[in-house]
Amino acid sequence: MKYSILIVDSDETIHKFLRSCFIQDGFIVLSVSSGEEALMMISSHQIDLVISELQLTGMNGIELLKKVKKLSPSIEFVLITEHITTPSAIEALRNGASDYLSKLTELEDVSNSIRSILSNKEKKIKYKSFNEDTDSIIENYLISKSSSMMKIMDLVKQVAASKATIMLYGETGTGKSVMAEILHKLSTRIKKPLIKVNCAAIPEQLLESELFGYEKGAFTGAVATKPGRFELANGGTLFLDEIGDISPFMQVKLLRVLQEKEFEHLGGIKTIKVDVRVITATNKNLVAMVKNGTFREDLYYRLNVVPINLPSLRERKEDIKALVNHFLLQNSKQSGDEICNISKEALDKLIKYSWPGNIRELENVIERCVVVTPGNLITLDNLPQNILNFKLKLSNDIHLNTLTNSKESIEKEEIIKTLSGSDNNITRAAEILGVSRRTLHRKLIKYKIQN
Ligand SMILES: Nc1ncnc2c1ncn2[C@@H]1O[C@H](COP(=O)(O)OP(=O)(O)OP(=O)(O)O)[C@@H](O)[C@H]1O
Ligand SMILES: [Mg+2]
Repeated sequence: MKYSILIVDSDETIHKFLRSCFIQDGFIVLSVSSGEEALMMISSHQIDLVISELQLTGMNGIELLKKVKKLSPSIEFVLITEHITTPSAIEALRNGASDYLSKLTELEDVSNSIRSILSNKEKKIKYKSFNEDTDSIIENYLISKSSSMMKIMDLVKQVAASKATIMLYGETGTGKSVMAEILHKLSTRIKKPLIKVNCAAIPEQLLESELFGYEKGAFTGAVATKPGRFELANGGTLFLDEIGDISPFMQVKLLRVLQEKEFEHLGGIKTIKVDVRVITATNKNLVAMVKNGTFREDLYYRLNVVPINLPSLRERKEDIKALVNHFLLQNSKQSGDEICNISKEALDKLIKYSWPGNIRELENVIERCVVVTPGNLITLDNLPQNILNFKLKLSNDIHLNTLTNSKESIEKEEIIKTLSGSDNNITRAAEILGVSRRTLHRKLIKYKIQN
């Protein structure tokens, strides 16, 4: 298929450079120097892809992107700029840009990027049901009925198909790993592998050879050449879990492969080029780590292009009922038994509990309940002791999470958990805990909690 590309840039040298790249690739190339001209061109020509400078005179690149997507959502749109900043990259991707490239470092790669976008476009046309399938893929994997999760899923749908690096934040058990899988499933990289690496579980030296591979004889024990995970993920997605745990040395190595999309095997001299979408996850506070110098700022910005914060379960209690039903169904499917039900009192108790282990803990609790319940109805008697006790400790509370009357240690623990679950945002934490901001401040001082 012969695609036509429209270049929008005020700089003549950029026009010339891109034109020569694209013509070599066999594309039809048109060029204009402003957003207004671009819109006229689009209304009179069949354009498949627009590649536009961000800082245009008059209408800027993002405004043009929005207008183009409104006119014709199927036109692919790539933004180029001198300096990539996180907010503008996020805005671009949220508005449907396919990629966002730096003029200074990535222009050489531009034809690779354009080729891969256009071949994805072809795939999208082939799988016309792609969009209709999106919701069923999501539903198969996770429950997201609460408004906070619905917002997140909207963002996930928008960014899944792009190449943007995604950083998943969330406490343990909030669904970071499932989200990485969904992002891969919703992308056009689905036919290529999703490779997962838990950075915290692998010692530094091993991590280097795991990610980048090695040549025979590179170190004692390297008896044969072995490809790294970056190579194995070529064309697909690489999920780096617990990214906050990597050493300064590995941070440098990772930065290079993210910037240049190339690396060498340990002990090797041949440069290997890869096209990999990187997704990372952490439950650490990376901003604090950047501040105290344990995580490189440049790497942080590379990884944090689209940050997605997964809320803790106690911040989305509306989801508990649906999750319980989901896990009850799952358990009965596995055992082939009739579906277990849950009494209203037992469900209320689950809703009131604070779920420090989030959805994983809920999943385990339901699995256990199904096993220990003799009949088909889970009642209070079948719930684990810690969940029953939780209410006892807060027995004088009218609302769950209000701080009044709860014992000091529980109070302190609850504050710490809530704060970490709301990115250390005091206003949000206070809201969740049901106290004023000032009260929460006083308590932070009283319990010597550092925020
Ligand atoms: N919204 C959801 N609906 C249904 N199941 C979910 C949902 N979110 C998570 N789960 C399930 O909960 C469990 C924990 O999820 P996952 O492993 O993705 O969490 P995580 O954030 O990666 O945790 P950790 O930080 O410990 O690695 C998994 O079994 C997953 O299938
Ligand atoms: Mg995980």
